[in-house]
Amino acid sequence: MQRRSNERRRKSDPWIAGIVLGLAVILGAVAIVLWQRGGIGPTAQEPSSAEAASVSAVSSSLPAISVAADSSQPASSAAPSSQPSVSSAPPAVIPDGEFVTPKGYTVVTKNGISTVNGVLIVNKTYSIPANYASGLSAEMLAAFNKMAAAAKEEKGYTLTIFSGFRSHANQIAVYNGHVASKGKTRADQVSARPGHSEHETGLTADINYADSSIAPPEEIVWMDENCWRFGFILRYPQGANEATGYNFEPWHMRYIGDTVLAQELYNDGEWISLEEYFGLTSVYAD
Ligand code: DAL
Ligand code: ZN
Repeated sequence: MQRRSNERRRKSDPWIAGIVLGLAVILGAVAIVLWQRGGIGPTAQEPSSAEAASVSAVSSSLPAISVAADSSQPASSAAPSSQPSVSSAPPAVIPDGEFVTPKGYTVVTKNGISTVNGVLIVNKTYSIPANYASGLSAEMLAAFNKMAAAAKEEKGYTLTIFSGFRSHANQIAVYNGHVASKGKTRADQVSARPGHSEHETGLTADINYADSSIAPPEEIVWMDENCWRFGFILRYPQGANEATGYNFEPWHMRYIGDTVLAQELYNDGEWISLEEYFGLTSVYAD
């Protein structure tokens, strides 16, 4: 009895194996057809939705090429402005040429250096080459020493250079430090991007301190009222953020040499910025 049932099982085993094998072949064929029609898995032509999402994220992180807000001012050349706006990106270069501002002054740009009536212009719109200067100008230093001597003699105040010339590499480090500590938007209100800082010109110095959280000390108030006598200007006056692109910096002196123009900009204590006076923009190209 036991032997007979074992024999029957042995006879039916090939049958069962055949049915299982047949079903496996059919299922395999169906799966291949569905795959090729795109019913399951990615096709060769279309990216998966995850891939599509990552492609669009990359596209939207690329900055759009833009022009200066005031179209009467030159836009930077397209190549630099298409660079991602990382903090160490090279400065946008102003194409050589001339144009007349809305205030009637002629901006002359030659070899990437822009001047108006002989005054070097460096701001968010106008850059300078990375190797423009290698230190503070002797003329500026002589004028500063005269101002410091007058401050001492007339009022007993001490004026010293807190931050003078900065190389391009130095300005990269300074700007990146501000971006790291406060983010790019706030950094751009207090620190110039490399290639756009007056500290790279050799004509500028921060005097005694640089801290917007404290009221200007009396010697700095005196300096802001008297610097024009020595050919310096208060480059970022109070309330001129829109025009200059920067917050009030009572410590930041810019040497222009021309005491007549400096006195005009002083305007009996109501400082006029270079941007307002000449009719210039101060806006980054990206
Ligand atoms: N703090 C001024 C704007 C500069 O970085 O040159
Ligand atoms: Zn400064």
